[in-house]
Amino acid sequence: MVDETRLNEFVGKVLSDLGGAFSLPLVRIGERLGIYRILHEKGAMTSGELADAASIAERYAREWLSNQAASGYLDYEASTGKFALPPEQAMVLAVPDSPVYLQGAFEIAQVMLENQTKVEPAFRTGQGVSWGDQSQCLFCAVGRFFRPAYHNMLTQSWLPALDGVVEKLEKGARVADVGCGHGFSTIIMAKAFPNSMFVGYDFHPASVEQARVHAEQDGVAANTSFEVALSKEFPGNDLDLVTFFDCLHDMGDPLGAAQHVRQSLKPDGTWMIVEPMAGDRLEDNLNPVGRLSYAASTMICVPTSLAQPGGAALGAQAGFHRLSSTIKAAGFGQVRKATETPFNMILEAR
Ligand SMILES: C[S@@+](CC[C@H](N)C(=O)[O-])C[C@H]1O[C@@H](n2cnc3c(N)ncnc32)[C@H](O)[C@@H]1O
Repeated sequence: MVDETRLNEFVGKVLSDLGGAFSLPLVRIGERLGIYRILHEKGAMTSGELADAASIAERYAREWLSNQAASGYLDYEASTGKFALPPEQAMVLAVPDSPVYLQGAFEIAQVMLENQTKVEPAFRTGQGVSWGDQSQCLFCAVGRFFRPAYHNMLTQSWLPALDGVVEKLEKGARVADVGCGHGFSTIIMAKAFPNSMFVGYDFHPASVEQARVHAEQDGVAANTSFEVALSKEFPGNDLDLVTFFDCLHDMGDPLGAAQHVRQSLKPDGTWMIVEPMAGDRLEDNLNPVGRLSYAASTMICVPTSLAQPGGAALGAQAGFHRLSSTIKAAGFGQVRKATETPFNMILEAR
Protein backbone atom coordinates (compact mmCIF):
# COMPACT_ATOMS: atom_id res chain seq x y z
CA MET A 1 0.00 0.00 0.00
CA VAL A 2 1.29 3.45 -0.95
CA ASP A 3 2.04 5.76 1.97
CA GLU A 4 0.93 9.25 0.82
CA THR A 5 3.39 11.06 3.05
CA ARG A 6 6.36 9.02 1.83
CA LEU A 7 5.19 9.40 -1.76
CA ASN A 8 5.02 13.19 -1.42
CA GLU A 9 8.43 13.30 0.22
CA PHE A 10 9.96 11.23 -2.57
CA VAL A 11 8.33 13.28 -5.34
CA GLY A 12 9.68 16.40 -3.64
CA LYS A 13 13.17 14.91 -3.51
CA VAL A 14 13.10 13.89 -7.17
CA LEU A 15 11.80 17.34 -8.18
CA SER A 16 14.79 18.86 -6.44
CA ASP A 17 17.14 16.43 -8.26
CA LEU A 18 15.45 17.24 -11.56
CA GLY A 19 15.86 20.95 -10.84
CA GLY A 20 19.62 20.35 -10.64
CA ALA A 21 19.62 18.21 -13.78
CA PHE A 22 17.54 20.75 -15.80
CA SER A 23 19.80 23.58 -14.62
CA LEU A 24 23.06 21.82 -15.60
CA PRO A 25 23.37 23.51 -19.02
CA LEU A 26 22.57 26.87 -17.43
CA VAL A 27 25.39 26.47 -14.90
CA ARG A 28 27.77 25.52 -17.69
CA ILE A 29 26.68 28.59 -19.73
CA GLY A 30 27.07 30.77 -16.64
CA GLU A 31 30.64 29.64 -16.23
CA ARG A 32 31.63 29.61 -19.91
CA LEU A 33 30.25 33.11 -20.60
CA GLY A 34 31.79 34.54 -17.42
CA ILE A 35 28.39 35.42 -15.92
CA TYR A 36 29.14 34.17 -12.40
CA ARG A 37 32.50 35.98 -12.44
CA ILE A 38 30.86 39.24 -13.49
CA LEU A 39 28.17 38.96 -10.81
CA HIS A 40 30.90 38.22 -8.25
CA GLU A 41 33.09 41.14 -9.34
CA LYS A 42 30.41 43.78 -9.99
CA GLY A 43 27.79 42.94 -7.34
CA ALA A 44 23.98 42.97 -7.65
CA MET A 45 22.58 43.87 -11.06
CA THR A 46 19.42 43.83 -13.13
CA SER A 47 19.10 41.64 -16.21
CA GLY A 48 19.79 44.68 -18.40
CA GLU A 49 22.95 45.58 -16.48
CA LEU A 50 24.16 41.98 -16.65
CA ALA A 51 23.42 41.78 -20.38
CA ASP A 52 25.60 44.87 -20.97
CA ALA A 53 28.41 43.71 -18.71
CA ALA A 54 28.55 40.17 -20.15
CA SER A 55 27.77 41.13 -23.77
CA ILE A 56 24.76 38.82 -23.89
CA ALA A 57 21.12 39.30 -24.92
CA GLU A 58 18.89 40.71 -22.15
CA ARG A 59 16.06 38.22 -22.78
CA TYR A 60 18.39 35.26 -22.24
CA ALA A 61 20.02 36.98 -19.24
CA ARG A 62 16.59 37.49 -17.60
CA GLU A 63 15.51 33.87 -18.02
CA TRP A 64 18.89 32.55 -16.82
CA LEU A 65 18.85 34.84 -13.77
CA SER A 66 15.31 33.71 -12.92
CA ASN A 67 16.32 30.04 -12.98
CA GLN A 68 19.39 30.75 -10.85
CA ALA A 69 17.32 32.67 -8.30
CA ALA A 70 14.78 29.82 -8.16
CA SER A 71 17.73 27.45 -7.66
CA GLY A 72 18.96 29.39 -4.63
CA TYR A 73 22.20 30.18 -6.46
CA LEU A 74 21.39 33.91 -6.65
CA ASP A 75 19.47 36.28 -4.35
CA TYR A 76 16.70 38.35 -5.93
CA GLU A 77 15.46 41.69 -4.61
CA ALA A 78 11.97 42.38 -6.01
CA SER A 79 11.98 46.09 -5.12
CA THR A 80 15.05 46.82 -7.31
CA GLY A 81 14.86 43.92 -9.78
CA LYS A 82 18.50 43.13 -8.97
CA PHE A 83 20.13 39.69 -8.71
CA ALA A 84 23.17 39.07 -6.49
CA LEU A 85 25.65 36.20 -6.10
CA PRO A 86 26.12 35.82 -2.31
CA PRO A 87 29.75 35.32 -1.15
CA GLU A 88 29.15 31.68 -0.17
CA GLN A 89 27.67 30.86 -3.59
CA ALA A 90 30.61 32.72 -5.20
CA MET A 91 33.08 30.37 -3.46
CA VAL A 92 31.36 27.40 -5.10
CA LEU A 93 30.61 28.93 -8.51
CA ALA A 94 32.96 31.85 -9.25
CA VAL A 95 36.29 31.58 -7.39
CA PRO A 96 38.54 28.93 -9.01
CA ASP A 97 41.04 28.84 -6.11
CA SER A 98 38.37 28.36 -3.42
CA PRO A 99 38.50 24.94 -1.70
CA VAL A 100 34.82 24.39 -2.53
CA TYR A 101 34.89 25.52 -6.19
CA LEU A 102 32.67 22.97 -7.97
CA GLN A 103 32.46 24.14 -11.58
CA GLY A 104 34.70 21.19 -12.57
CA ALA A 105 32.07 18.82 -11.16
CA PHE A 106 29.35 20.39 -13.35
CA GLU A 107 31.66 19.97 -16.34
CA ILE A 108 32.14 16.28 -15.43
CA ALA A 109 28.34 15.89 -15.21
CA GLN A 110 28.00 17.26 -18.75
CA VAL A 111 30.66 14.86 -20.06
CA MET A 112 29.00 11.92 -18.28
CA LEU A 113 25.75 12.68 -20.07
CA GLU A 114 27.54 12.65 -23.43
CA ASN A 115 29.31 9.44 -22.45
CA GLN A 116 25.98 7.65 -22.12
CA THR A 117 26.11 6.58 -25.78
CA LYS A 118 29.40 4.77 -25.08
CA VAL A 119 28.77 3.38 -21.60
CA GLU A 120 25.19 2.17 -22.16
CA PRO A 121 26.21 -0.51 -24.72
CA ALA A 122 29.03 -1.55 -22.37
CA PHE A 123 26.43 -2.46 -19.73
CA ARG A 124 25.39 -5.33 -22.06
CA THR A 125 28.82 -6.41 -23.28
CA GLY A 126 30.65 -5.91 -19.98
CA GLN A 127 33.50 -4.34 -21.91
CA GLY A 128 35.28 -1.13 -20.97
CA VAL A 129 35.41 2.34 -22.50
CA SER A 130 39.01 3.47 -22.53
CA TRP A 131 40.03 6.74 -20.88
CA GLY A 132 41.12 8.30 -24.18
CA ASP A 133 37.76 7.46 -25.84
CA GLN A 134 35.58 9.30 -23.32
CA SER A 135 33.52 12.22 -24.61
CA GLN A 136 34.76 15.78 -25.09
CA CYS A 137 37.49 16.96 -22.74
CA LEU A 138 36.82 14.70 -19.77
CA PHE A 139 40.49 15.23 -18.94
CA CYS A 140 40.02 19.02 -18.63
CA ALA A 141 36.94 18.56 -16.46
CA VAL A 142 38.60 16.03 -14.14
CA GLY A 143 41.70 18.22 -13.79
CA ARG A 144 39.58 21.25 -12.95
CA PHE A 145 37.48 19.27 -10.47
CA PHE A 146 40.44 18.02 -8.42
CA ARG A 147 42.69 21.12 -8.66
CA PRO A 148 40.97 23.22 -5.90
CA ALA A 149 41.58 20.50 -3.29
CA TYR A 150 45.22 20.11 -4.34
CA HIS A 151 45.69 23.91 -4.39
CA ASN A 152 44.35 24.30 -0.85
CA MET A 153 45.44 21.10 0.87
CA LEU A 154 48.26 19.21 -0.82
CA THR A 155 51.26 21.16 0.51
CA GLN A 156 49.36 22.63 3.49
CA SER A 157 48.11 19.43 5.12
CA TRP A 158 48.40 16.27 3.00
CA LEU A 159 52.19 16.10 2.51
CA PRO A 160 52.84 17.24 6.13
CA ALA A 161 50.68 14.30 7.31
CA LEU A 162 53.22 11.87 5.81
CA ASP A 163 56.15 10.70 7.92
CA GLY A 164 59.30 12.73 7.13
CA VAL A 165 58.33 13.49 3.53
CA VAL A 166 58.31 17.31 3.70
CA GLU A 167 61.87 17.33 5.12
CA LYS A 168 63.07 15.19 2.20
CA LEU A 169 61.26 17.40 -0.33
CA GLU A 170 62.82 20.54 1.14
CA LYS A 171 66.33 19.05 0.89
CA GLY A 172 65.86 17.65 -2.59
CA ALA A 173 63.98 14.46 -3.43
CA ARG A 174 63.13 12.46 -6.54
CA VAL A 175 59.38 12.15 -7.04
CA ALA A 176 57.13 10.37 -9.55
CA ASP A 177 53.50 11.57 -9.83
CA VAL A 178 51.79 8.65 -11.57
CA GLY A 179 48.47 9.05 -13.41
CA CYS A 180 49.20 12.79 -13.31
CA GLY A 181 46.58 13.78 -15.90
CA HIS A 182 46.89 17.49 -16.68
CA GLY A 183 49.66 17.80 -14.08
CA PHE A 184 48.09 20.12 -11.49
CA SER A 185 49.27 18.02 -8.52
CA THR A 186 52.80 17.73 -9.97
CA ILE A 187 53.02 21.49 -10.59
CA ILE A 188 51.74 22.44 -7.11
CA MET A 189 54.38 20.21 -5.48
CA ALA A 190 57.13 21.44 -7.83
CA LYS A 191 56.36 25.08 -6.97
CA ALA A 192 56.48 24.40 -3.23
CA PHE A 193 59.68 22.33 -3.34
CA PRO A 194 62.09 23.81 -5.91
CA ASN A 195 65.02 21.61 -4.70
CA SER A 196 63.16 18.44 -5.68
CA MET A 197 62.66 16.92 -9.12
CA PHE A 198 59.17 15.83 -10.16
CA VAL A 199 58.28 13.59 -13.09
CA GLY A 200 54.61 13.21 -14.01
CA TYR A 201 53.62 9.98 -15.78
CA ASP A 202 50.33 9.17 -17.47
CA PHE A 203 49.33 6.68 -20.16
CA HIS A 204 47.17 9.28 -21.98
CA PRO A 205 49.43 11.18 -24.42
CA ALA A 206 47.12 14.22 -24.82
CA SER A 207 47.06 14.73 -21.03
CA VAL A 208 50.86 14.55 -20.86
CA GLU A 209 51.07 17.22 -23.62
CA GLN A 210 48.69 19.44 -21.68
CA ALA A 211 50.62 18.94 -18.43
CA ARG A 212 53.78 20.17 -20.19
CA VAL A 213 51.91 23.31 -21.31
CA HIS A 214 50.67 23.93 -17.75
CA ALA A 215 54.20 23.49 -16.34
CA GLU A 216 55.56 26.09 -18.78
CA GLN A 217 52.72 28.50 -17.93
CA ASP A 218 53.32 28.05 -14.19
CA GLY A 219 57.09 28.50 -14.43
CA VAL A 220 58.07 25.06 -13.10
CA ALA A 221 59.56 23.57 -16.28
CA ALA A 222 63.01 23.49 -14.60
CA ASN A 223 62.10 20.92 -11.93
CA THR A 224 59.32 19.01 -13.71
CA SER A 225 59.03 16.76 -16.71
CA PHE A 226 56.08 14.81 -18.06
CA GLU A 227 56.27 11.46 -19.84
CA VAL A 228 53.86 8.93 -21.30
CA ALA A 229 54.09 5.71 -19.27
CA LEU A 230 51.91 2.99 -17.83
CA SER A 231 51.73 2.83 -14.05
CA LYS A 232 53.41 -0.60 -14.23
CA GLU A 233 56.27 0.60 -16.43
CA PHE A 234 57.50 4.07 -15.41
CA PRO A 235 61.32 4.12 -14.98
CA GLY A 236 63.45 4.42 -11.84
CA ASN A 237 64.43 2.44 -8.74
CA ASP A 238 65.63 5.20 -6.41
CA LEU A 239 62.60 7.37 -5.80
CA ASP A 240 61.91 9.06 -2.45
CA LEU A 241 58.21 9.58 -3.09
CA VAL A 242 55.65 8.21 -5.53
CA THR A 243 52.22 9.85 -5.63
CA PHE A 244 48.94 8.54 -7.11
CA PHE A 245 46.18 11.17 -7.14
CA ASP A 246 42.68 9.79 -7.69
CA CYS A 247 43.84 7.19 -10.17
CA LEU A 248 44.72 3.84 -8.50
CA HIS A 249 41.09 2.68 -8.68
CA ASP A 250 40.98 3.61 -12.42
CA MET A 251 43.76 1.18 -13.29
CA GLY A 252 43.21 -2.24 -14.80
CA ASP A 253 45.86 -3.86 -12.63
CA PRO A 254 46.21 -1.89 -9.38
CA LEU A 255 48.14 -4.76 -7.79
CA GLY A 256 50.66 -4.74 -10.66
CA ALA A 257 50.96 -0.95 -10.30
CA ALA A 258 51.53 -1.31 -6.55
CA GLN A 259 54.24 -3.95 -7.10
CA HIS A 260 55.92 -1.65 -9.61
CA VAL A 261 55.79 1.31 -7.19
CA ARG A 262 57.43 -0.82 -4.51
CA GLN A 263 60.42 -1.66 -6.68
CA SER A 264 60.71 1.97 -7.86
CA LEU A 265 61.15 3.35 -4.32
CA LYS A 266 64.28 3.58 -2.18
CA PRO A 267 64.02 1.28 0.89
CA ASP A 268 62.89 4.25 3.02
CA GLY A 269 60.69 5.75 0.28
CA THR A 270 57.00 6.59 0.61
CA TRP A 271 53.99 5.93 -1.60
CA MET A 272 51.18 8.48 -1.20
CA ILE A 273 47.81 7.33 -2.52
CA VAL A 274 44.96 9.84 -2.72
CA GLU A 275 41.61 8.15 -3.27
CA PRO A 276 37.98 9.24 -3.03
CA MET A 277 36.62 9.20 0.52
CA ALA A 278 34.64 6.01 1.13
CA GLY A 279 33.67 3.62 3.87
CA ASP A 280 34.35 -0.10 3.49
CA ARG A 281 30.72 -1.17 3.10
CA LEU A 282 28.09 -0.01 0.64
CA GLU A 283 25.83 0.96 3.53
CA ASP A 284 28.56 3.38 4.76
CA ASN A 285 28.52 5.18 1.40
CA LEU A 286 24.80 5.81 0.93
CA ASN A 287 25.24 9.57 1.34
CA PRO A 288 25.65 12.62 -0.98
CA VAL A 289 29.41 12.10 -1.55
CA GLY A 290 28.92 8.37 -2.19
CA ARG A 291 26.07 9.16 -4.58
CA LEU A 292 28.30 11.41 -6.71
CA SER A 293 31.20 8.97 -6.56
CA TYR A 294 29.17 5.92 -7.57
CA ALA A 295 27.74 7.88 -10.53
CA ALA A 296 31.18 8.98 -11.76
CA SER A 297 32.49 5.49 -11.07
CA THR A 298 29.75 3.87 -13.18
CA MET A 299 30.26 6.25 -16.10
CA ILE A 300 34.04 6.84 -15.96
CA CYS A 301 36.15 4.84 -13.48
CA VAL A 302 34.76 1.32 -13.96
CA PRO A 303 34.72 1.60 -17.81
CA THR A 304 38.30 2.97 -17.74
CA SER A 305 39.58 0.06 -15.67
CA LEU A 306 37.62 -2.60 -17.60
CA ALA A 307 39.20 -1.29 -20.83
CA GLN A 308 42.70 -2.15 -19.51
CA PRO A 309 44.43 -5.54 -19.08
CA GLY A 310 43.42 -6.91 -15.68
CA GLY A 311 40.11 -5.01 -15.55
CA ALA A 312 40.12 -5.01 -11.73
CA ALA A 313 37.50 -2.20 -11.62
CA LEU A 314 37.96 -1.37 -7.93
CA GLY A 315 35.48 1.50 -8.37
CA ALA A 316 35.68 4.99 -6.89
CA GLN A 317 34.27 3.81 -3.54
CA ALA A 318 36.74 1.00 -2.93
CA GLY A 319 37.28 1.98 0.72
CA PHE A 320 40.36 1.72 2.94
CA HIS A 321 40.17 -2.03 3.57
CA ARG A 322 40.11 -3.01 -0.12
CA LEU A 323 42.78 -0.46 -1.07
CA SER A 324 45.11 -1.37 1.78
CA SER A 325 44.74 -5.12 1.03
CA THR A 326 45.87 -4.46 -2.55
CA ILE A 327 48.78 -2.28 -1.36
CA LYS A 328 49.89 -4.84 1.26
CA ALA A 329 49.63 -7.68 -1.28
CA ALA A 330 52.30 -5.82 -3.27
CA GLY A 331 54.70 -6.11 -0.35
CA PHE A 332 54.26 -2.83 1.51
CA GLY A 333 54.68 -3.44 5.26
CA GLN A 334 52.67 -0.47 6.52
CA VAL A 335 49.60 1.27 5.15
CA ARG A 336 47.79 3.97 7.10
CA LYS A 337 45.24 6.70 6.51
CA ALA A 338 47.42 9.77 7.05
CA THR A 339 44.58 12.27 6.79
CA GLU A 340 41.19 12.76 5.14
CA THR A 341 38.73 15.36 3.85
CA PRO A 342 35.00 14.94 3.11
CA PHE A 343 36.00 14.02 -0.49
CA ASN A 344 39.39 12.30 -0.20
CA MET A 345 41.43 9.91 1.91
CA ILE A 346 45.20 10.22 1.86
CA LEU A 347 47.00 6.93 2.38
CA GLU A 348 50.68 6.42 3.18
CA ALA A 349 52.39 3.14 2.26
CA ARG A 350 55.97 2.36 3.31
C1 LIG B 1 40.70 10.53 -12.53
S1 LIG B 1 42.13 10.90 -13.47
C2 LIG B 1 43.14 11.76 -12.28
C3 LIG B 1 44.16 12.62 -12.94
C4 LIG B 1 45.07 13.41 -12.00
N1 LIG B 1 45.87 12.54 -11.15
C5 LIG B 1 44.27 14.37 -11.16
O1 LIG B 1 44.16 14.13 -9.96
O2 LIG B 1 43.74 15.35 -11.70
C6 LIG B 1 42.93 9.32 -13.61
C7 LIG B 1 44.21 9.38 -14.40
O3 LIG B 1 44.82 8.09 -14.39
C8 LIG B 1 45.39 7.84 -15.66
N2 LIG B 1 45.53 6.38 -15.80
C9 LIG B 1 44.53 5.46 -15.73
N3 LIG B 1 45.05 4.22 -15.87
C10 LIG B 1 46.39 4.36 -16.00
C11 LIG B 1 47.46 3.44 -16.17
N4 LIG B 1 47.25 2.12 -16.19
N5 LIG B 1 48.72 3.94 -16.27
C12 LIG B 1 48.95 5.28 -16.22
N6 LIG B 1 47.96 6.19 -16.09
C13 LIG B 1 46.70 5.73 -15.97
C14 LIG B 1 44.41 8.49 -16.63
O4 LIG B 1 44.98 8.76 -17.89
C15 LIG B 1 44.02 9.75 -15.87
O5 LIG B 1 44.86 10.83 -16.19
